[in-house]
Amino acid sequence: TVNGETAKSPEQKVDETKDTVTLDGHSFSYQKYFYYKLHKPAGVVTAVRDHHDQTVLDLLVDAPGKDLSPVGRLDKDTEGFVLITDNGEFAHRILAPRSHVPKTYTARLDRPAGPELVEAFAAGVVLDGRTCMPALLAPDPDDPRTARVVLRQGMYHQVKRMFGAYGITVTALRRDAIGGLALDPDLEPGKCRKLSKIEVERILTEGL
Ligand code: URA
Repeated sequence: TVNGETAKSPEQKVDETKDTVTLDGHSFSYQKYFYYKLHKPAGVVTAVRDHHDQTVLDLLVDAPGKDLSPVGRLDKDTEGFVLITDNGEFAHRILAPRSHVPKTYTARLDRPAGPELVEAFAAGVVLDGRTCMPALLAPDPDDPRTARVVLRQGMYHQVKRMFGAYGITVTALRRDAIGGLALDPDLEPGKCRKLSKIEVERILTEGL
């Protein structure tokens, strides 16, 4: 039915902003763009398709949306929050070098991160002659081989290279949040979930 009247003609047009459409008693609303939060497991590549490896899009099952793609990249061995959407303009707002949407990671390190490293991250680590934006490094006080890192840039392998510049190897990396939206603890690796409008807006807020 459209606005309570049975729709008999396939040509019937609807105004998605005001008409009420139901099928077998279930009502439908129009959604232009779709947004998903995926918990990427290690071993999966952040690509739309790949000849060898499973991709993040292979993990999106029963997910409506046209030309969905991941927003930014995680390394194959990194796990955590990957945002997937068909809204290219929104993706651009997150990825644009000037947007500085914070990304929060947990890094497992081969050596403890000390206070001098916290200062170096805050001052801006130099990678290939270029000074990175100040980053927050917060080692776990009970286990300084685990640390939270917040970056406002997305350079290639940036977290690993920033630690690498000080001789520290990242042995495991997980992205926990993009902007103010965190990966939920009950979203298991390999699982994805559609985001609500409020959650999508939270991505563009200040972070955790
Ligand atoms: N930094 C890295 O080094 N790897 C990632 O996957 C993300 C950020």
